Amino acid sequence: KEIFLKDYKEPDYFFEKVDLNFQLGEETTLVFSKIFVSPRVEGCLAPLVLDGVDLKLISLKVNGKEVKGDDFHVDSRHLTLSSLPSGKFTLEIVTEICPQKNTSLEGLYKSSGNFCTQCEAEGFRKIIFYQDRPDIMAKYTCRIEGDKSLYPVLLSNGNLIEEGELEESKQYAESLTQNLDPCTRSHAMYSLKAAMKWDEDVFGLEYDLDLFNVVAVPDFNMGAMENKSLNIFNSKLVLASPETATDADYAAILGVIGHEFFHNWTGNRVTCRDWFQLSLKEGLTVFRDQEFSSDMGSRPVKRIGDVSTLRSYQFPQDAGPMAHPVRPHSYIKMDNFYTVTVYEKGAEVVRMYKTLLGASGFRKGMDLYFKRHDGQAVTCEDFFAAMRDANGADFSNFMLWYSQAGTPRLNVVSNYNAVAKTYSLKFSQEVPPTPGQPIKEPMFIPVALGLLGSDGKDMPLSSVYHDGKLESISNNGQPAQTTVLRVTKKEEEFVFNDIPERPVPSILRGYTAPVRLDSDLTDADLHFLLANDSDEFNRWEAGQVLARKLMLNLVSDYQQNKPLVLNQQFINGVKSILCDSSLDKEFIAKAITLPGEGEIMDMMEVADPDAVHAVRSFIRKQLAAELKNELHNTVKNNRTSEKYEFDHQNLLRRALKNTALGYLGSLEDAEMRELALHEYKTATNLTEQFAALVALDQIPGKVRDEVLADFYNKLQHEYLVINKWFALQAMSNVPGNVENVRKLLDHPAFDMRNPNKVYSLIGGFRGSLVNFHAKDGSGYKFLGELVVQLDKINPQVASRMVSAFSRWKRYDEMRQNLAKAQLEMILAANGLSENVFEIASKSLAA
Ligand code: ARG
Ligand code: ZN
Repeated sequence: KEIFLKDYKEPDYFFEKVDLNFQLGEETTLVFSKIFVSPRVEGCLAPLVLDGVDLKLISLKVNGKEVKGDDFHVDSRHLTLSSLPSGKFTLEIVTEICPQKNTSLEGLYKSSGNFCTQCEAEGFRKIIFYQDRPDIMAKYTCRIEGDKSLYPVLLSNGNLIEEGELEESKQYAESLTQNLDPCTRSHAMYSLKAAMKWDEDVFGLEYDLDLFNVVAVPDFNMGAMENKSLNIFNSKLVLASPETATDADYAAILGVIGHEFFHNWTGNRVTCRDWFQLSLKEGLTVFRDQEFSSDMGSRPVKRIGDVSTLRSYQFPQDAGPMAHPVRPHSYIKMDNFYTVTVYEKGAEVVRMYKTLLGASGFRKGMDLYFKRHDGQAVTCEDFFAAMRDANGADFSNFMLWYSQAGTPRLNVVSNYNAVAKTYSLKFSQEVPPTPGQPIKEPMFIPVALGLLGSDGKDMPLSSVYHDGKLESISNNGQPAQTTVLRVTKKEEEFVFNDIPERPVPSILRGYTAPVRLDSDLTDADLHFLLANDSDEFNRWEAGQVLARKLMLNLVSDYQQNKPLVLNQQFINGVKSILCDSSLDKEFIAKAITLPGEGEIMDMMEVADPDAVHAVRSFIRKQLAAELKNELHNTVKNNRTSEKYEFDHQNLLRRALKNTALGYLGSLEDAEMRELALHEYKTATNLTEQFAALVALDQIPGKVRDEVLADFYNKLQHEYLVINKWFALQAMSNVPGNVENVRKLLDHPAFDMRNPNKVYSLIGGFRGSLVNFHAKDGSGYKFLGELVVQLDKINPQVASRMVSAFSRWKRYDEMRQNLAKAQLEMILAANGLSENVFEIASKSLAA
């Protein structure tokens, strides 16, 4: 059933207080709930409809009296109560559940012997009968009872009120976990402390309880969950040691520990009125964790990573059948809307407020938001209003960012008038049609801009002529080097006066809006920006724009069977960055990394996976051959025998070394194989060891097979590491790799019930464009069959996997037919979940 935002109604009954008691058992678990109900309007006659799925009703009382058969009705989704007392009453319900049989990993379930809950978005209804919606703002107490020998640690939310022993070796705690090795949890602890301090320093927000628990769970659908004072994490986002986690894992842990902690204010103290408002907490909290990671590491490098994610995942979603606004208008299954649009594009929307208001104006807006809404369940309008009112700001049509889907295209044409000494920029914008939204309004796009003179420096900007008015640009009375233009119309011009020479514009510095930018910059301009822009993000971006153009041109050569030739200027550009010792090493690593295959496919009329893959591999190989000495030196100069530290200097060093080694691996020559083997053997940490394994994996043959086997033998007890080993093999572009992946499904370390393993092996396979999109349809068939199997175990995971088919219309006719056949097969399956149904049917309808 599809649910619409426009149909939102306040609940007829409020729940003031809920007392929960769990009696955990190996066979079944009993849940006692006592709910204090008050009608919103006195004398309300409406029935009370409670959600409930997979529950066995044991008893039901209103005001202490058993409810008679005529006065309630239970179906597979609801418990409906009629003829209720007028005024307040209590509702006591006992339900029985089987957590050990719950493979959906929502509600109460067992993971590696531990009980665990996941209630967001709609999992609580698998625990008790309840009005399972976020605007029910009850206060809870929670008591857990269980056998002490079986369940030694019992954890609930909030402060601990009391704990103790019961008869028959049972214990209880009014307020679950795995005891962790102190070493593997030290990074999470460091991250948590840093996050607490950061939120105090930057937003003045303190933690509000005496207790804070972090729990690691091996079987978890998503990344983590911000349960008040009891944050629960997918183990891969908590546990880390130098031998079992890479730098990327360490960075992800920092970000996610921060994210869940930050939810205490943005998510828990102030929550969402309904699930359509999800980005109110998620977009804002992603923005907060991005800022936290930036402050703990390198801001430009963090920004480059976040923008790359947005382009590789969100842009394609925004251009496909599942395109939805940051605040969706409707859903069938809410879990399908925990998306890169709600999260990452949502974070970009929050970032735009900060760009427009500045750091202190943004802080004022946040302060007012908490002042007004602490303890409430609110909407995106409330956040908008707090930002606006705290600053007396004019945000014109900014709210459209919440309601219009699709990535706006922003085009810029420049003109320099040497006589009048004026420089003009003409902007025009277009928001593409998306499902259900054929026609769009122009958006409010903040564009940070600087103008570079021929000396490579930023020109001082003091005023701009716009909309018939001369607006002054000032930065505390001084001319600015960067100004933020407010582009709000379909077409709009900005003219700068007193510009002594034709400048090179640096447009959208720091990526101030989630748009696709087209401009009339020439290759020479882009090379100039790459060498000189004071904005590091745009320096990187200039290189990416050049690389994207070059790749698209080579793709078209490849399609016309022309020989591929890499232009010398590009090679020189890469070489000069690689050898520029004044640059940050991680920046170099990012700048010499080519745009991803998905990003290039996304820019093509008809996506051609074979051509894109061939071209990207060709360029990598060519660069490796031309710059072999430089890359080799980069590897050698960035070795160290010191013990692993997750600190800035070492992160940069390893990032650059591993990128260089990856290039060299593409050469498939004996000397480089030796080099990679040497790095593999001498590595003192997983970051360098795994990078060497990835480099070796590119060179098929005996050595590759031996190293893969060696790695498994040594690390087989570390299941998180084995997931990386699965992913690496699944992603291989070796023709016909689908057979290999099928075999790995039977590997003793694989388990379809564990989401991380599925994401590694099956998700990894989707990452090989040539194999997933194989012309014989073998990749599609493999995924199609797996989705049907998986759906019976875990619909949320199956639904994430089926989304790989959603852009099937982007490919040639042969592939379209093959993918379509799989979607039809899936939709015809018996007992299909709503999760998979929603994605598959919307994909097919597009
Ligand atoms: N609120 C969590 C987070 O982003 C995500 C939980 C989503 N879970 C789900 N099954 N939809 O931190
Ligand atoms: Zn979140």
